[in-house]
Order: sequence, then structure tokens, then C-alpha cells
Amino acid sequence: MNREIAHSIIRRLIDHVVADTTDLAPEPRVEPAEHFTDPERHALEREQFFLDTPQAVGFAGQVAEPGSYFATDVLDVPIVIVRDREGVLRAFLNVCTHRGAQVARGCGRAQRLVCGFHGWSFTLDGRLAGRANDDDFQPRSSANNLQPLPISDRAGILMVGLRPEMGQLRVDHALDDIAPQFEEMEIGEMELAGSDRFEVAANWKLVVNLSHEGYHFQTLHKESLAPMMTGHGAADEFGLHTRWAFPMRGIEALAEKDEADWPGYPPAAMNHTLFPGTVIVANQGGAQMIRVEPGSEAGTSVVYFSGVAEIDRAKEEESRQAARATYELGVRIFEGEDLPAAEECQRGIATRGRPIEIGRNEPVVQWWHQRWLDELHEPVTVPDDA
Ligand code: FES
Ligand SMILES: [Fe+2]
Repeated sequence: MNREIAHSIIRRLIDHVVADTTDLAPEPRVEPAEHFTDPERHALEREQFFLDTPQAVGFAGQVAEPGSYFATDVLDVPIVIVRDREGVLRAFLNVCTHRGAQVARGCGRAQRLVCGFHGWSFTLDGRLAGRANDDDFQPRSSANNLQPLPISDRAGILMVGLRPEMGQLRVDHALDDIAPQFEEMEIGEMELAGSDRFEVAANWKLVVNLSHEGYHFQTLHKESLAPMMTGHGAADEFGLHTRWAFPMRGIEALAEKDEADWPGYPPAAMNHTLFPGTVIVANQGGAQMIRVEPGSEAGTSVVYFSGVAEIDRAKEEESRQAARATYELGVRIFEGEDLPAAEECQRGIATRGRPIEIGRNEPVVQWWHQRWLDELHEPVTVPDDA
């Protein structure tokens, strides 16, 4: 990352650690229970924040080589991301044009995408390549090709529009406000270290907010994260996106050194949250993506957790093992401590039916609730006599 940005964050974090403070919101805030339980609001969020908003779906390193692909779902939309043989990045609905089965599963390298049902095959640029009994079908046309979706690689983060009509421009510019903050980290050069999927019995906003405050470190993560990191946070907004940085223990020792000798990257975790709620946790040499999406009901969500890391080419095997271990530690804490807390909260909120509290010391949690409120609009209804 940019040295100037890194050093200004280091300075702020040292000040907070020394004074035992954190960035604060002007006032505490309450959030109505219905925001986590109301089916109507949930349906609007799914529609507007996910189907109609460009989504971060993965890392460029997942399709680094020509011929590589990976399949994933966003809400219930099956998509496949491909690096075609000419190196062009593409996204398609992962839907066969014969009867609708998937043309790709998991990830890998391929010459063609082949449907597992009757075997229709498609080139990596989406054209129907072959099918058995060709003469028994209508003559081939563009309707037989896979449905392309707009996709963009922004600083190593893959952004996709789930609806073709969203347009390439909107997807290209979705991260304009925040990408310069992590552009120089070369996330795009990093290799996949692992990926997992979790079904969670909690509203998606509760899950996103797990990555937005350090108030819980000393209690929930007493044995795991708290011995390594502190919750003294520096919070920033970049258009609709945010960054919340929190330091490794001992960062204040840098105050004794000349700034010229400071590292080019803060000894800290930097949680960049991309609207509507994908968190990119960037550390030195690695990054995780926590993609949270609303489930079928307000009290459920699905989380796609993945991690990438810089691989030292001189010691590839060692370096991959270390990346895997770091990834697994992150998953263990998230799955074993954070997600169960979110599930408890959901049950509690639904039972009690009263607003929840968000402290001044949780500014990023506050910001996001305000954003989600501001950005949601009533569905446009057309009067009967129109
Ligand atoms: S559904 Fe794909 S070949 Fe039949
Ligand atoms: Fe946590």
C-alpha cells in the first residue's frame, strides 16, 4: 500500500493505543429489531443491495491463468468466472442453454465448459461449441451461447453485475472511491489459500458488523485474537465504502523510531468494507474476503469466506503452508467464535423485539446501519391508471 496512507494509519493507531482511545461516533445509536427480522425489508435488501448492485465475488488470483475458472453463487444466481484462452476475464450465468443445468462446478482449468446433464459444451468465451444430436435441435444461434455478465477486476477484487442490464460501466466504477486505498497491495498477484461457505442463522447485517468493531475482542476473542491485536480502531469512509484498521499489539514501539524506518504497511488488520457488505481484510502479504449475503429469510445468511496470500517463489511449499495456516486460523476464529455470537444475537433480537444499542465506540457499525437505511428505497410502484 501507499507509504503515506500506511504511515498516517500507523500514527493514528499509536495515538489510540497510547491514550487507550478509539475513533468515536458523535452519539450512541439504536437500531430497531425489525431491521433484522422484517421479511419485507429483507426482500428489498436482497433485490436492491445484491441483485441490483455490483458484487465482489472473488479474487483475481482465483482465475490467474488462461483457461482457469471458478463457479459460485450470489444469492440464488449461479455464476461462473473464467479467464479465457486469450487471457480475457469473463463472467457468465452458470446456466446451460439446453435445459438450465450448471456448466461448471468448483474451480479448475478447462478447454471448454461442459454441462453435466446432456453434455453440451461451451468455449471459454461463452459460445456453444458442441452438442450431441445437433440436427435434432433448432439451428444454432446466439441464443445458445452462455449469458455474459459485466465483470471487472479492480485492484485484484472481482466485481460482477448479476443482471446483464446493469452495464459494464457501473461494475467498472463500483470501487472507484476505495480501490486507491489498497491498489498498491497487489492483491491481484496473490494466490488462493482457501475458501469456505457457511450458512448462518443470523441476519446478514449482524454478520457484516462482526468485522466492524473491536469492542468484543477482550471478551469473545479473549484467548484467540486479543493476545495478538487490540480493538483501538481508526475508521474512515470512502464514498459508500469504509475502512476500519486495528493494530497488532506493540505497535506503539514504532513511536521510538524514526518514521523513515517505519514499515511500508501498518502492523495492523485493515477491514475494507465494500458496499453493500463484503469485507476485505487486508494484512501484510495476504487478504481475506468475507462475502455475506442475505439468506432466504431475514434471520438467515450465507457467508463465503476466502483468503489469498503472497507466495515466496524461492520457498513455494513453505510459503503455501504458512498461507494455509494463517487462513485456517482466521476461519477458526470466525466460525468458532464470531458466527455463533451473531446467531445468538439474532435469536435474542427476535425474542425480545426491542431495539439494539450501538455505542459511540462502534462508529463503523453505526455508519453501516445509516448507509443501509439511506440507500434502500421504496419499491417503485406504477399506479393502475398509468
Ligand atoms: S441441460 Fe445442459 S446439456 Fe442438457
Ligand atoms: Fe470478531
